[in-house]
Amino acid sequence: MSITDVPRGLKGVVVTETEIGDVRGGEGFYHYRQYSAVELAQTRTFEDVWHLMFDGTLPDAAARAEFTARTTALRHLSDDVRDALPAIARSCALSGPLAGLRTALSLLGASAGFRPLYDIDPARRREDALAACAAVPTLLTALHRLGQGLSPVEPRDDLPYAANYLYMLTGEEPDPVRARAVERYLISTVDHGFNASTFTARVITSTGADLAACLVGAVGALSGPLHGGAPSRALDTLDAIGTPDRIDSWIRDSVLAGDRIMGFGHPVYTTEDPRSRMLKAIARDFGGPLVDFAVQVEERVEAILAELKPGRELHINVEFYAGVVMELCGLPREMFTPTFACARVVGWSANVLEQAEDSKIIRPSARYVGPPAPQPVPVV
Ligand SMILES: CC(C)(COP(=O)(O)OP(=O)(O)OC[C@H]1O[C@@H](n2cnc3c(N)ncnc32)[C@H](O)[C@@H]1OP(=O)(O)O)[C@@H](O)C(=O)NCCC(=O)NCCS
Repeated sequence: MSITDVPRGLKGVVVTETEIGDVRGGEGFYHYRQYSAVELAQTRTFEDVWHLMFDGTLPDAAARAEFTARTTALRHLSDDVRDALPAIARSCALSGPLAGLRTALSLLGASAGFRPLYDIDPARRREDALAACAAVPTLLTALHRLGQGLSPVEPRDDLPYAANYLYMLTGEEPDPVRARAVERYLISTVDHGFNASTFTARVITSTGADLAACLVGAVGALSGPLHGGAPSRALDTLDAIGTPDRIDSWIRDSVLAGDRIMGFGHPVYTTEDPRSRMLKAIARDFGGPLVDFAVQVEERVEAILAELKPGRELHINVEFYAGVVMELCGLPREMFTPTFACARVVGWSANVLEQAEDSKIIRPSARYVGPPAPQPVPVV
């Protein structure tokens, strides 16, 4: 077997073929199947895009009704899982609902009898994936509410995906403008090429493990601040800066101290992130002091990063205005990354279903750089 060195972080390395979507970093464009993801977010429902990701087509009216009825029914948790949530929420009081989701997803898979993907046919895999995706918003909102000392709110079958998510979070039916803003955010984050969590899900899939194992690994990857853990931190940055007169000094001091400004930079985009453009427009429609301040901070961060990190092409990414939009829609900061997970679980699952068709295990190599081996094992 020949050994090939690849760039650190596997940057630019093609590891498989996919029909699910792609990111064209230089153009600031990304797509799901053959459609612009931003256009889908502007014109379609979350359920339509979920259908597209799983089945490869946008649904007609009949398929939409069937898919919606199926996924709505799956929002309700089994007694096994529901009864365990208070204990899970108590144990993740400090680490939050996303950490709790790992445990809850494991339990959901075990209690629903998910079997290794290797052993089941594509139709059964799809059923497992529908069940997991439909349950994630119910699990996350229940964990959040239990953590706040509140009772979980049962899903409502008459509400679409995003409105039901907000309803389960707050116990109140959301106003349509906010529900639609969150729906557009969710659609725009369903998938995004071979990002770290998607790759993680596909690596686990390649072993033939069950769907819950793949999703739990992906949630773990997403939780890191260099991946999905940034939107609340971006908003924390706005709080820490506080007032317009402090923007320049705060950003400069942070960058010169070697810190990263959350919500800027991307491993693939060398232009503005198209998701950020859409979310900024949504934020501007809401308007208000937070949005005005965010726009000022964005302009100064872009300029200061261009000056202090020349040639790095560090531009705004999805997380900056995602935080602003979620704040404006009344989502608590603790739920920013979990909300991202509600959308991305659909993308992970589509990738899992595709990867499961390939029987080759993903198993790269590392270059050993420790002391030369073998050396005699010391005698005790
Ligand atoms: C997203 C991210 C991990 C991409 O990293 P990457 O493309 O691999 O970039 P690198 O880690 O190679 O960094 C390249 C250079 O830009 C700098 N840089 C990257 N992102 C930066 C940021 N947000 N603020 C300040 N400097 C940054 C690095 O310090 C490095 O500088 P150096 O060459 O002087 O050492 C990175 O930009 C980041 O940490 N951003 C902040 C977190 C964030 O917003 N995450 C959400 C991603 S959608």
